[in-house]
Amino acid sequence: MKKIKNLQLRYKKNERGEIIFNKNIYLKKNIARIFKPIIRDRKCFFFIDKNLYQKMDLRLYCKRLKKELNADIFLLKGGEQAKSLHYFYNYINKVFRSGVNVNSYIVAIGGGTIIDLAGMISSMIYRGINFISIPTTLLASADAAISCKNALNLSGAKNLIGTYALPKKIFIETEYVYNFLDTRYFWDGFAEIIKHAIGHSRKLYNHLVNNNSTYIKKKYINKLNKKEKEEFLKDISEILLMTIQSKTELFNEKNNELQPLYHFGHTIGHALEIASKHKCFHGEAISIGMLVATELSISRNRLNKRILKDLLFLIEKFNLPKVISKKIFNQKLFKSAIKKDKRYFDGNNHFILIDKKFKISSKLTPIKYDEFYNILKKYIN
Ligand SMILES: NC(=O)c1ccc[n+]([C@@H]2O[C@H](COP(=O)([O-])OP(=O)(O)OC[C@H]3O[C@@H](n4cnc5c(N)ncnc54)[C@H](O)[C@@H]3O)[C@@H](O)[C@H]2O)c1
Repeated sequence: MKKIKNLQLRYKKNERGEIIFNKNIYLKKNIARIFKPIIRDRKCFFFIDKNLYQKMDLRLYCKRLKKELNADIFLLKGGEQAKSLHYFYNYINKVFRSGVNVNSYIVAIGGGTIIDLAGMISSMIYRGINFISIPTTLLASADAAISCKNALNLSGAKNLIGTYALPKKIFIETEYVYNFLDTRYFWDGFAEIIKHAIGHSRKLYNHLVNNNSTYIKKKYINKLNKKEKEEFLKDISEILLMTIQSKTELFNEKNNELQPLYHFGHTIGHALEIASKHKCFHGEAISIGMLVATELSISRNRLNKRILKDLLFLIEKFNLPKVISKKIFNQKLFKSAIKKDKRYFDGNNHFILIDKKFKISSKLTPIKYDEFYNILKKYIN
């Protein structure tokens, strides 16, 4: 694969998070070569997604981590339940019992949920120890790991408590980690990619619109022949690079929460995750959230309806849902979650919309429940 130049997240005055591409981190022989110069002889804790451990059979890999880095390894079940106070309490205690100190490292290998939890724990120990993330889902590689935000879910709503802390390193691996991902989770990763394409990167947008790669039509990435697999790897690396470049640019311009594009589709999206008890995945919920935010933009800012068509085209092309099934949608849970959302204040929910110049607005727009719910209703089927 073409060598990709590393990128950097810049945070506060002099904190830097290096984004490193395709180092073949899962090869056992690379463990010492890659981690030793970073971790040296400091105490380190690996938080590893249990699904990944089983599917990729990481037994020998973990043995080697223990032997060569003297690492403590925690295997955790990935999924939203990991972003809970229960997991937080349990694992922060395990880390303290295993002799953490202020120079220690926490390394997360998993999807966005394991990264959010491990990042949260590392940011709270002595008010912040070293953190490295190795995302293993498309969603985490494109978005969740390229971040300084960590969060837990609480009291029937998403991301209610959290911290800001920059990882020291983020390793993006595309070579074969997605082979093991369930198809639905793979496509789920495209929602945040589409968000960046619509809101910030014309290059990425054109690439997605004109993309004729076989894997998109085939839908199943684990049923590709050798040639198609090569095409897939090349394409997904390009897409990830463009998305990560877009997120890095925005982050370095105005870090953390201040970047409006991050919120596009999220006001509705987070509440849909809760309303469906997470049967609707993060990316799927954000897709529907973006459709509602786009319709609100059209009606509020008198925009041409073409932008909705463009978004629908990409959502369909990348096998994301355009509706949430009424069988999994609970309005009571939705109503309660949306009122606990961070963007709910002064009696209104607030949305990031597309402005009259077809750009993502930098201002939050207050919108009453009935107005956005009337639009959302069309997407519940
Ligand atoms: N911190 C941020 O800035 C940020 C940004 C976007 C999203 N997020 C958060 O990310 C979370 C979603 O992340 P996600 O979609 O990665 O979910 P996830 O962590 O739940 O992973 C999805 C599923 O895939 C499994 N898995 C992980 N890697 C695998 C692999 N390579 N092969 C097979 N199975 C694998 C997991 O066990 C899990 O069952 C949400 O909680 C969302 O709020 C955070």
